[in-house]
Amino acid sequence: MRNVKLGVNIDHVATIRNARNEKNPDTVEATRVALSSGADMVVMHLRGDRRHIKDDDLERVRREVKGLIHLEMAATPEMEKIALRVRPDSVCLVPEAPGEVTTQGGLKMTGKLTELERIVRGLSKSGIEVSLFVDPEPQPIRAAHNIGADSVELCTSKYSESWGKKLQAKELETLQLASFLVKELKMGLHAGHGLDYYNVVPVARIEGMDCLNIGYSIISRAVFVGLKSAVTEMKRLMQ
Ligand code: PXP
Repeated sequence: MRNVKLGVNIDHVATIRNARNEKNPDTVEATRVALSSGADMVVMHLRGDRRHIKDDDLERVRREVKGLIHLEMAATPEMEKIALRVRPDSVCLVPEAPGEVTTQGGLKMTGKLTELERIVRGLSKSGIEVSLFVDPEPQPIRAAHNIGADSVELCTSKYSESWGKKLQAKELETLQLASFLVKELKMGLHAGHGLDYYNVVPVARIEGMDCLNIGYSIISRAVFVGLKSAVTEMKRLMQ
């Protein structure tokens, strides 16, 4: 049996909660259910505009739940400060563009390597594992390695959005080739974005895959079957 870890992103539990600006559905409760249903960690993306996860969600989950927290954040001094204070178990540095509905592709590192390296090394020094969200291409993977990241998370958007078997097979091959390089560099191999119950299996089967981070499809399915079943089903598909 493969042991690909599942990080369940609960951003959209907060999106629903924020629709009424009340307490439910509670992100602490969502974390407990996800972790007790087979998730290996809970994932939260604290965005600059705080449109779903708020600082309080992150702090409460850290304080009230025993379990691994994976924080997605932009590489900004503000987020760096929060991460060093709240101390998630791991951080993924992601690009963030104003007005985007969701993350648009991997980090563009040209011209930003010095600042990225400072943040990566600072987080690492404080015991937080660091990954970089990158497109499945050699250049950003090598750059992530050179600045000291422990892992890369390969962006699966193009694969997830590809229409038809032929195109999907091509995007899967791109992910596979990128994975060889990640493993050659002895880095952790993560992947995510747009993965769902129909497209997850081939990505979970990529040799050396350590972890998949999945949010939207799980929370969407949870609306109909409950979070416990939605997480259990996803975890089962990945093994
Ligand atoms: N990985 C990263 C780096 C992301 O930014 C996101 C979205 O927050 C995800 C994974 C999860 O993507 P999805 O919600 O499409 O499953």
